[in-house]
Amino acid sequence: MGEKSSGDFRYAVGESKVPWHAVGEYYNGSDAVAVAKFLLPDAGDPRYAAAFANAEKALKELGQVAGRATKLTLGGNVAKVEELCRARFGSKYASFVDNWTGGMEIAYKLAGLKPGDEVIMSAVTFIATMAYPLSIGAKIVFADIDPETINLDPADVAKKITPKTKMIVPVHLGGAPVDMDPIMELAKKHGLFVLEDAAHAMGAFYKGRAIGSIGHFGGFSLHEVKNINSFGEGGILLTSEDFAGSQLAGARFLGLDFSRKIKDWLYDVSPLADRFGNVQVAPNHSATEIQALGLLQQLSRLDAIIAERRAAFEYMNGVLSEEAGILTEKPDTAETFGTHHLYLLRIDPKKVGGDIQMLAKKLAAKGLTNITHFGPMYRFRIMKMLGYDENQLAATCPRTEEMFYHSYTHLPLYPLTREQLEYQAKAVVEAVRELKQGK
Ligand SMILES: Cc1ncc(COP(=O)(O)O)c(C=O)c1O
Repeated sequence: MGEKSSGDFRYAVGESKVPWHAVGEYYNGSDAVAVAKFLLPDAGDPRYAAAFANAEKALKELGQVAGRATKLTLGGNVAKVEELCRARFGSKYASFVDNWTGGMEIAYKLAGLKPGDEVIMSAVTFIATMAYPLSIGAKIVFADIDPETINLDPADVAKKITPKTKMIVPVHLGGAPVDMDPIMELAKKHGLFVLEDAAHAMGAFYKGRAIGSIGHFGGFSLHEVKNINSFGEGGILLTSEDFAGSQLAGARFLGLDFSRKIKDWLYDVSPLADRFGNVQVAPNHSATEIQALGLLQQLSRLDAIIAERRAAFEYMNGVLSEEAGILTEKPDTAETFGTHHLYLLRIDPKKVGGDIQMLAKKLAAKGLTNITHFGPMYRFRIMKMLGYDENQLAATCPRTEEMFYHSYTHLPLYPLTREQLEYQAKAVVEAVRELKQGK
């Protein structure tokens, strides 16, 4: 009996007597049971064993009669994610990649970043933001932060631009939009690329435009601790730049180019080219169909999740605004719409009679999770080993130092029950009062 091709590009053979599939070994009913058990584990409900036994029986039966998945990576679901992202975020091109670190690597390569080029970012971000530039010997220049949002301060960026500056990388920390207009103006004036690290900000807006689609490049992380995820890892890279967008499909998969062929073979391999035609080898950051399925499911819930996060944020702001010395998070305005990935809790150390380190200990003692995102990157050992001087850099970012060590922390917003949220707000107020009383 002839069998349809698996649809894999390498062996698109159509009807064949001896089939070849993209998948070496198929998945079966037992595999589906293992996945179900992983995604829906036993959490102690006495009904679990019986419910799982039913599901196991059903999945195994299904496995007896079902066909087999024969396309596990870069298939129709990945394409569907990209189509949805283009429509939803208003960007001309979108690429679903294995993680956002990989997406940023592609953006940096397409921007033509070279050793010795300077990249401006704030020090308060995850190492992933600067990993690729560091790995090729580009220089990271740290600009200071805006004390209200702890995001990159455009005024300080302006001061740190030199003839070697190639890129500005604003990070929308905690899902709060960076003030993008001045950043884009600086980029235009100096001929720089802007890469928006919107890891926390899928679904945020700034002046009517989706965050992630304002810079020349931008994108989101779908890692397990983001607002939504694609089975633990994933990233979306957006661009509306034709020179880059036209290369995106090949850019995440080693430059395979199906629009061209070499003699007696199915495709050609093209390099990644920057705007000036300088070329680099494309990496492999392919996303799987399973990642895409997870994302499609969670993407359909994104608006509802953000709405719930916003309500929790407003509640926190409402309660905390009653206590002097607590600086509540800047609310959304008519021009900005954040994703409220984290709650930014700031204090005025003078008014509360203690700093955030002291407060954090009290919060932890009350059972709260507070995670200050993120330690200033110039303090990492790797920076010293690459020749950066942490104290000199700290001196160029006084607000980063002051804020990180004395004034802010982050609290979770979702998924918290109403009881947990109320407890969290009350515990913060209590802890601040204790500090005021010198307890
Ligand atoms: C600010 C920031 N940038 C980049 C990343 C990297 O994203 P990913 O984990 O998807 O590679 C993360 C997340 O983990 C992040 O928090």
